[in-house]
Amino acid sequence: MLDAVFDALSPASRYHRYLTGLSQLTGSMRTALTAVDGHSHIAWVGEIDGHPVAIGRLIRVAPGTAEIAFEVVDAHQGRGLGTALLDTLMTVASVSGIDRIQATVLPSNDRSLRLLRAIGMAFRVEDGLLEGTAPVRLRETSVVDRAAVVRLALSTHAESGCMADSA
Ligand SMILES: CC(C)(COP(=O)(O)OP(=O)(O)OC[C@H]1O[C@@H](n2cnc3c(N)ncnc32)[C@H](O)[C@@H]1OP(=O)(O)O)[C@@H](O)C(=O)NCCC(=O)NCCS
Repeated sequence: MLDAVFDALSPASRYHRYLTGLSQLTGSMRTALTAVDGHSHIAWVGEIDGHPVAIGRLIRVAPGTAEIAFEVVDAHQGRGLGTALLDTLMTVASVSGIDRIQATVLPSNDRSLRLLRAIGMAFRVEDGLLEGTAPVRLRETSVVDRAAVVRLALSTHAESGCMADSA
């Protein structure tokens, strides 16, 4: 699943997601990205027709605070999946004891910045990167079935959840 999504990211998307040019994941990155335990590292996968096309993560970095990271494969970008994934992650955060999120974003990553600013994230420049932080709050209009997300989030502790196919 990790490889299927990574392989379907363009070099530009990989650069935006991992902040470095990568032709493949390193061993240590693979170890970190698969260390999903449903609490300190929460991951949700978006699938279309049974194929993984998006991954969103919440990784706790301090009490009540999580780093948020997400990616949508290039073939399905621009169709609202990123928005749905972010709504899913914020919903999960709100029932997981996470009240603040943070993110590191390249200044050139317009789509990600649009998404994160829309949920109230404020950024400061640090070493050429944008470091953002925001309280966890849900957008007024939901784009996913939040009740279903909450049910899955609360029933899933050791496994990553599965985002409903919204494309
Ligand atoms: C960032 C990312 C997850 C967004 O996913 P997506 O499915 O394309 O997102 P959406 O379709 O919901 O669109 C998100 C925003 O980008 C805008 N957008 C979409 N396609 C666009 C395009 N071709 N040009 C400019 N803006 C575009 C949308 O209008 C939307 O903004 P809005 O809500 O103000 O209208 C995706 O582009 C991606 O995976 N990028 C590479 C990895 C990455 O950058 N991850 C984030 C860093 S942690």
